[in-house]
Amino acid sequence: MTIAVTAATGQLGTLVVDSLLTKVPAAEIVAIVRDAAKAQPLADRGVTVRIASYDDPAALRTALEGVDKVLLISGNDVTKDRPAQHAHVIDAAAAAGVSLLAYTSAPAADTSTLPVAADHKATEEYLATSGLNTVLLRNGWYHENYVPSIDAARHTGSVLTSAGDGRVASAARADFAEAAAVVLTTDEPLQPVYELGGDVAWTQDELAAAIADVIGSPVTVAQVSPDEQSAALAAAGVPDFWAGFTVATDASIRAGELEVTTGDLSALIGRPTTPLVDALRAAV
Ligand SMILES: NC(=O)c1ccc[n+]([C@@H]2O[C@H](COP(=O)([O-])OP(=O)(O)OC[C@H]3O[C@@H](n4cnc5c(N)ncnc54)[C@H](OP(=O)(O)O)[C@@H]3O)[C@@H](O)[C@H]2O)c1
Repeated sequence: MTIAVTAATGQLGTLVVDSLLTKVPAAEIVAIVRDAAKAQPLADRGVTVRIASYDDPAALRTALEGVDKVLLISGNDVTKDRPAQHAHVIDAAAAAGVSLLAYTSAPAADTSTLPVAADHKATEEYLATSGLNTVLLRNGWYHENYVPSIDAARHTGSVLTSAGDGRVASAARADFAEAAAVVLTTDEPLQPVYELGGDVAWTQDELAAAIADVIGSPVTVAQVSPDEQSAALAAAGVPDFWAGFTVATDASIRAGELEVTTGDLSALIGRPTTPLVDALRAAV
């Protein structure tokens, strides 16, 4: 059995390989990366490293030759045509005749208004036409996305948000990684779609309390309108793209789109998910 992980030098990919190494011999793991130097620690652990960018269909075909299962981790370059990049991997996986392709998507990617959802929806649609046996790992928000909020709270004493009463069932990146490793290695029947989130769907007040716990001083919540949030982010020097991304994400949270309460994640990993405060403390 050979299991390939794309973007294996990324934060999630590294954790997926860590988890796989507890389940299968290193010789069965193929790390597909674009930067050989960055992958040296993986090679040092006995993992096979193959070089292929998402922009290079020929290299991807070579890299996936002989692979049985593949985890396609979505790319992070939102300035690129990510669905096209992912399609290159999917085509290569189909050419290799893999028995399973798992893809890291987003919550309810087919209907979500999240700013990242369109790329995931397009990739899911392409997968549906690929003829491959697929599993959609619709990962919710990472706890670690809120590490910058810790730095902001140290300076301002507050969490700025327009998310209102919306709840977020975020989870530790390592928990999503472990779930992916389980899907890649289990002999149990798999669901076609997993909606993955943490066990606890928290409010902004609970986020502020978790951050206060980490930094050891009080943190309040500054609930503002989307326009006020845009203006505040601009005044703080946040680039337009990321300010817009933050405001749009808070709109999705307000609409309940990140309140993923299926229990799929804890069921896959066989334990409760890591609490927000623990992941934030570990991240700082
Ligand atoms: N659920 C969430 O909250 C959340 C948050 C952020 C991102 N995401 C998504 O989940 C993915 C994994 O998260 P992460 O934390 O591991 O992100 P990350 O640390 O930024 O890793 C992204 C990975 O994509 C690889 N990559 C980008 N463009 C590529 C290309 N053209 N060819 C080959 N590889 C390419 C990068 O390669 P290098 O290692 O060479 O840079 C990196 O390994 C992200 O890429 C993004 O799509 C989800």
